[in-house]
Amino acid sequence: MKKIILAITGASGQIYGIRLLEMLKTLKSEIHLIVSKPALLTMKIETDKSERYLRTLADFFYSPSDIGSAIASGSFKHDGMVIAPCTINTASSIAYGIADNLIARAADVTLKERRKLILLIRETPLHQGHLSTLLRLSQMGAIIMPPVPAFYSNPKTIDDLVNYTVYRVLDMLGFNVEYKRWVGLKD
Ligand SMILES: Cc1cc2nc3c(=O)[nH]c(=O)nc-3n(C[C@H](O)[C@H](O)[C@H](O)COP(=O)(O)O)c2cc1C
Repeated sequence: MKKIILAITGASGQIYGIRLLEMLKTLKSEIHLIVSKPALLTMKIETDKSERYLRTLADFFYSPSDIGSAIASGSFKHDGMVIAPCTINTASSIAYGIADNLIARAADVTLKERRKLILLIRETPLHQGHLSTLLRLSQMGAIIMPPVPAFYSNPKTIDDLVNYTVYRVLDMLGFNVEYKRWVGLKD
């Protein structure tokens, strides 16, 4: 069974974190979930989901202030951490080692232990400071994965767009998932 740390921060696109949580629940995984306060605010604006709903899906639920929890340590073995969606605020903290909350701390130790860290950064347009932060994170080993939709799978609904990105994340985490992959042009 895979152990996955999922953090949801206050960027637009709360549905990405929620859908990932829902899909992880259907797969064989142990889910460690952290949700920032701004995420709960943004979630209220963008969705009809609540903290209570998230808690029912996670195996372990942490407050961002819970800096003494197991996942704050590099000795906690896991199979990957995803921040979906990921704010510029949280990305910047991680890039500069400012680990004053559990999300940034868990991400920091994930990188130092050379484990997988996937960041669904959501901001546009990006200024040079954002771009250099993202480059720095990539050089530190993070996977920068903005939730940019692909249209070659002929999505019909917003759900199709969201699910496609979430499947790509699950693929990266090493889960066996079936979705419409690009198989090349046919004559
Ligand atoms: C409705 C709403 C949408 C937001 N969208 C974004 C966004 O797409 N990207 C981003 O970096 N910040 C966005 N923010 C701002 C963050 O929530 C804010 O910077 C917050 O301090 C981030 O804290 P966190 O990283 O701890 O979640 C948004 C805020 C609100 C209220």
